Parts: sequence; C-alpha cells; structure tokens
Amino acid sequence: MKKIKVAVPATVANLVCGFDILGLALHEPCDIMELELINEPIINIKHTDDYGLPETVEENVAGVALQALIEAYEKPIGFNLTVHKNIKPGSGLGSSAAGSAGAVVAANHLLNNYFSKEDLVRFAMNGEKLATGVKHADNVAPCIYGGITLVRSAFPLDIISLASPDLYVTVVHPQLEVKTADARQILRKDVKLKDAIKQWGNIAGLVTGILKNDIPLISRSLEDVIIEPVRSILIPGFAILKDLCKEAGALGGGISGSGPSIFMLSENEFIAKQVEQEMIKVYSSMGIENKTYVTTINPNGVKFISSE
Ligand code: HSE
Repeated sequence: MKKIKVAVPATVANLVCGFDILGLALHEPCDIMELELINEPIINIKHTDDYGLPETVEENVAGVALQALIEAYEKPIGFNLTVHKNIKPGSGLGSSAAGSAGAVVAANHLLNNYFSKEDLVRFAMNGEKLATGVKHADNVAPCIYGGITLVRSAFPLDIISLASPDLYVTVVHPQLEVKTADARQILRKDVKLKDAIKQWGNIAGLVTGILKNDIPLISRSLEDVIIEPVRSILIPGFAILKDLCKEAGALGGGISGSGPSIFMLSENEFIAKQVEQEMIKVYSSMGIENKTYVTTINPNGVKFISSE
C-alpha cells in the first residue's frame, strides 16, 4: 500500500472543566487527507481548500508532525500530502489537531502500524506547538484514539481512553476567529485554591459520570470556574446561549476548545435539534453568521476511506 485517503474528525477539547486534559472526537465536520508514501526524504504539501494555510513543511502542522515521524523511522522516507480542510481554522474544533493527527495516522497505516498510538500523539503534538505555542494533547488524543480521552499527563505522555456515552453533541460556530494562542494568553496564571477544589470535583465527577454512564452526574459536572469566566468574554452571546440551551433540555456544555465554537451535550436527537434551533436564534438575532452541527461522539477517530 502506497497511498491512503482518510477522514479526520473535529474534536472538542477541555469538555468544560478539563482544560488541556479532556477531549472528544465528533463525527462531523471532518477534513479529508490523501497521503502517498515516497522513497525520497521530502514532504510535499498541497491544500485544496480556500483557507490559505501555509504549504511549507516547517510552517504546516501536518508538515512538522510528519517530519517528527520520519525522523523516528528506521529508513529514509517521504510523503506527498493533499489536504482538503472542512474544519475551519480558529473555530475551536481542533482544526490544527486534525491536520497533524490525520497526517501521522495515515502515515502509520502506510508503514504497517510501525508506531504506537502514543507515538503518533507525540508526533502530532509538534503541530499543536506550531499552531498554539504549546504541546497540548487534548485535541490530538481523541482524534487518534477516538471517543473521549483523558490526558493524565502530557510529559511523560499518559493517555486514558474513556467510554463513549451515547450522547448527542450540538455545536455552533459563530463565524468569528479566535486564535488559540490569544485565548491562552489572556488566562490568569494563578488559580485560587477554592476554585481549584471546585474544578477538581467537577473533573472527577465528569470522568466518573462518563465511566458509569451516569447522565445526571455528567450534567452537574459540566461546570468550569477557572477558564470559562475569562474566555467567555471573547464570545458574544455566550451566557444567554448557554442558559437557553439548558432550558431546551441540554445536559450542559460550554466553550469548545479555545472557542469561539460552543458545544452542548444532549440525551437524544430531538433535544439536540431543539438546542441547535436556540443556537441559531441567538446568533441570527445578533446578526452573526453561524454554522451548526448536530452529531454524536465518534468512537473511532480517523477513518480510512480508501487505499491503493
Ligand atoms: N486545551 C486547549 C485550550 C485546546 O483550551 O487552549 C485548544 O483547542
């Protein structure tokens, strides 16, 4: 096998209270990537979308991730990569993670799974470093492992795959761009002990709720007293939208990654669609263009479409 085509899912990082440690993969939107293995030690990158992302290896998230993989491989190899992005950069839906994770998962398939999933996360974290300045793994891990992941530690890497509860995810992407690097810059460097205690309780509650499929526990644990109060000022309509979505029956939710997308979890498709209507209403009334998705948790991560 020399060539492979994959669909790479968007991801929701943080899951409200788990800043930099929790994340889940969605069924949509997905980037499409085609990767060809070549014998020359070079990487050629071409984008077929209109986002104007850099195609030079050192400036491209997939490029730096593939570079790290090539350096760890036993023989000199290279790749031709074609990317069609559907996950808009700066949306808070793991666009950069999809670029780097998709490339290394596809490459590993062409190399007969020479590397472990943990290795792939490590390579893909180079893409996150390029995009955001920090090697956080909470988007690349669910993209590679699928489902919901907990990054107990990034250095050294310790990733735990959690169960995937049967929940619906509604996402709204108000068409504004928030750069993750900027959204990290504004965060306070110190946390009050009483806030930390609340956050620890919520993270432990959320993970327990996921593992026990305890929906009310998941719902009451979706609270963030540290990051959301700061970052939500970057997202117009955030507070009112959250209230309306909960009134419509959502279990809870918050900022997706560093925003501006907002996600809500619901128990069934009917509620998830009601939640979508509330999201559209809020942004339409504010005159802000928006894109919504009603989807479910993707237990598999990167999907193989074809190979030759
Ligand atoms: N955990 C990262 C952040 C995710 O919130 O900055 C970025 O998508």
